[in-house]
Amino acid sequence: MSAVTESGARDIVAQRYSSVLGDYLSGAGEAALAQAYELGREATRHGIGVVEMAMVHHEALVQLLSATPERPALVVEAARFFAESLAAFEVSLRADVALRHAKVAAENANRELESFSYSVAHDLRAPLRSIDGFSHALLEDCAEQLDDQGREYLKYIRESAQRMAQLIDDLLALSRVTRTEMHRVRVDMSMLARTVAEELQAADKHRAVTWTIQDGLWATGDARLLRAALENLLGNAWKFTGKHPEARIEFGALVDKHPIVYFVRDNGAGFDMTYKDKLFGVFQRLHSTDEFEGTGIGLATVQRIVRRHSGRVRAEGETVRGASFYFTLEEETAAP
Ligand SMILES: Nc1ncnc2c1ncn2[C@@H]1O[C@H](COP(=O)(O)OP(=O)(O)O)[C@@H](O)[C@H]1O
Ligand SMILES: [Mg+2]
Repeated sequence: MSAVTESGARDIVAQRYSSVLGDYLSGAGEAALAQAYELGREATRHGIGVVEMAMVHHEALVQLLSATPERPALVVEAARFFAESLAAFEVSLRADVALRHAKVAAENANRELESFSYSVAHDLRAPLRSIDGFSHALLEDCAEQLDDQGREYLKYIRESAQRMAQLIDDLLALSRVTRTEMHRVRVDMSMLARTVAEELQAADKHRAVTWTIQDGLWATGDARLLRAALENLLGNAWKFTGKHPEARIEFGALVDKHPIVYFVRDNGAGFDMTYKDKLFGVFQRLHSTDEFEGTGIGLATVQRIVRRHSGRVRAEGETVRGASFYFTLEEETAAP
């Protein structure tokens, strides 16, 4: 709101204040007090502060009393009127304070929970390494003393330990997203996507995947976090196209949108849209580990990263037809 409208609003409030205060001092009673409260609310809406309101009151009083100097009792009455007009400020102030308290409490609780899960995850690693290590030693050193079934059981123990280690690593990565400080820089998203694609391709040279990566896409954000987001999204696209004979993976953006909407699209296994919001929850998976391995933490990580950039992420998919993930990295403002 411009300074002109502000001062205009102040004048209007001041005029009405003076007139209603006059009515009150002439005996208008409760009705005038109700109007005082309304005036106070209007003042808060126009950004008029308490000090400004005191000035309004003072000016009105001086004006009214100069007409009736013989009635000092009016000053006391007027003070009551003024207090009523301030009640509105108090209400909005109290709501403000309560909101701020709630926000701080929520942030503290969140931080505590984060640091708790971080240390739990961290401390679970050591005993797990021991389970895996000794199962491995047992298989290596005592293989002859075990029969086939014994060896098979040990194999399961090791697989479970390794899966749990992966879960812990993913949880720690998820936790790190909110724990680390953001360093905002200009990031070449196209190059980042290409690097991630090359790494995926290098890890499995036999897979023939057609990559389409749009050039010249930039973003402002934390390079490390954005890389983790693309690793998860492109990693998913890579994984869920694993059984497709002609896999296609695309990274691009809807640049005519504001803010830019980036997307990762594939023609893989897809998913049922009924569960499109579940996907972003920790441990939520729509495919079994027999079908596609995974821990179900990747998209939760992506969502946190996107949120830390004030953006949003959503999924679109169709069973057997593939999936698309769209995300922004800025707050959506009203249409520019
Ligand atoms: N590109 C995709 N195509 C089909 N389904 C997907 C895709 N990406 C994610 N999903 C679904 O969302 C679930 C959660 O993804 P994510 O959190 O990355 O876990 P994970 O990759 O470990 O399974 C996946 O298990 C899968 O069911
Ligand atoms: Mg994943």
